[in-house]
Amino acid sequence: MTSPSATPFPRLQACGLVKRYAATTALAGVDLDLADGESLAVTGPRGSGKSTLLHTLAGVLVPDEGSVRLHGRDVATLGERDRSLLRRRHFGFVFQFGQLLSELTAAENVALPPMLLGTPRGQALTHARQWLAALGLEGMEDRRPGELTGGQAQRVAVARALVTGPAVVFADEPTGALDPATGAEVMRVLTEATRAAGASLVVVTGDREVAAWCSRRIEVRDGRVVADERAAVGATAR
Ligand SMILES: Nc1ncnc2c1ncn2[C@@H]1O[C@H](COP(=O)(O)OP(=O)(O)OP(=O)(O)O)[C@@H](O)[C@H]1O
Ligand SMILES: [Mg+2]
Repeated sequence: MTSPSATPFPRLQACGLVKRYAATTALAGVDLDLADGESLAVTGPRGSGKSTLLHTLAGVLVPDEGSVRLHGRDVATLGERDRSLLRRRHFGFVFQFGQLLSELTAAENVALPPMLLGTPRGQALTHARQWLAALGLEGMEDRRPGELTGGQAQRVAVARALVTGPAVVFADEPTGALDPATGAEVMRVLTEATRAAGASLVVVTGDREVAAWCSRRIEVRDGRVVADERAAVGATAR
């Protein structure tokens, strides 16, 4: 795959996405382009389809109709194995909590994704430590998740999502388990580090304050995008 800037395609492009769970239509026809370096907040009421959209864009779920393209290449038609490889190579993930392996240190948690892609352990750990230091966690590298605060654990998760140099980082309610001040700090680190790494970002959140950190916001209702607004240039720079 060529570098993002060398292709005429949007980084990520969804067309006509429909996703059903038995009688529930979770996505009812979603079209969405994600540009290079864009940070997109996906907002909307409970059960509106936000997580289903994130998982479908990320190739975790396969849509019943429609397509998802990464740099023009269809993700949804790949087999399970190739989708899993594509996720590992090109996507990073941050969840609400509980995503770090409790028996591994912070550095070992961050080293895991590159090791799964074949990077030797020593090299992966060195790279992991650099990322942790860059995200303000110097001195915490050898702690286990149980020895970190919620905000620190989320910063480790951000390092883990970025360490492989992904095209897109997906975060589902990344601040959902945090108090507002800690949540704002995690959003600052997430948006700044993702932008600096040249990745695009998709953040699902029910919280307006959290959404305000992103350069673009969409609102999902009953499986459809009902609003799509871009922040004025500079408006998100805090
Ligand atoms: N695995 C599943 N099986 C059946 N129905 C599901 C499944 N996952 C989601 N749904 C349904 O699909 C719809 C969309 O769910 P989804 O989790 O995408 O919404 P959401 O906006 O992320 O909600 P929340 O704000 O509660 O996280 C809801 O009606 C939900 O009940
Ligand atoms: Mg959800």
